[in-house]
Amino acid sequence: MKPLVAPSLLSANFGNLDSDVDMINNSTADWLHFDIMDGVYVPNISFGFPVLEAIIRRTSKPIDVHLMIVNPEKFIERFGETGASILTIHYEAVDHLHNTVKFIKSLNMKAGVSLNPHTPVSVLEEILPYLDLVLLMTVNPGFGGQTFIERSYSKIRKLKALISQTGSTAMIEVDGGVTLKNAPLLIDAGVNVLVAGNTIFKSDNPSKTIDLIKNCHKKIY
Ligand code: DX5
Ligand code: ZN
Repeated sequence: MKPLVAPSLLSANFGNLDSDVDMINNSTADWLHFDIMDGVYVPNISFGFPVLEAIIRRTSKPIDVHLMIVNPEKFIERFGETGASILTIHYEAVDHLHNTVKFIKSLNMKAGVSLNPHTPVSVLEEILPYLDLVLLMTVNPGFGGQTFIERSYSKIRKLKALISQTGSTAMIEVDGGVTLKNAPLLIDAGVNVLVAGNTIFKSDNPSKTIDLIKNCHKKIY
């Protein structure tokens, strides 16, 4: 099965975002991954609503918002109004996950929950039937361009088993250190959505790289 590909704008050229958004629009990418960091939950700050609004005006792809912030509940309504299609919050940052997930869905967004590398998938057992997506961090969140954590393959397989055990229809998305080399292995382990920042934006031909990731299930590099 072909994966969905979500280029992460964090690795784009911030001096000329329009041209990178147009490149994504004209590519075979499925979603546009938008990382929001608050400098508290993660040791970095990225972008916020004004940039998101500008991107939403320009893009033809669904926006996949990944919130790396404390108290994400405070802003969910605003992400709905702004036009996010998928809203992912971190398991580790929320106290009342069931309520928060229900609220995201009530605003017609797909609800995702993300796990840091050290958090076991077993914590999701009770919430999985309510989720549209689980985002497994395959690096520590906060920065693009880090090295993929190899233990993630077994975590993906465990999550896939838990999803079918619980009757969930959640997709599995991975984020961090995705390359042309590990992408086919990730798909083989059960991943449905591949986020990629540096692999796409630091390549000579980003649009072609998106397409190579999209079609890499056929090929072990
Ligand atoms: C990191 C972000 C990622 C990041 C991935 O915390 O969530 O989306 O942009 O970048 P790469 O693909 O370069 O590891
Ligand atoms: Zn992300």
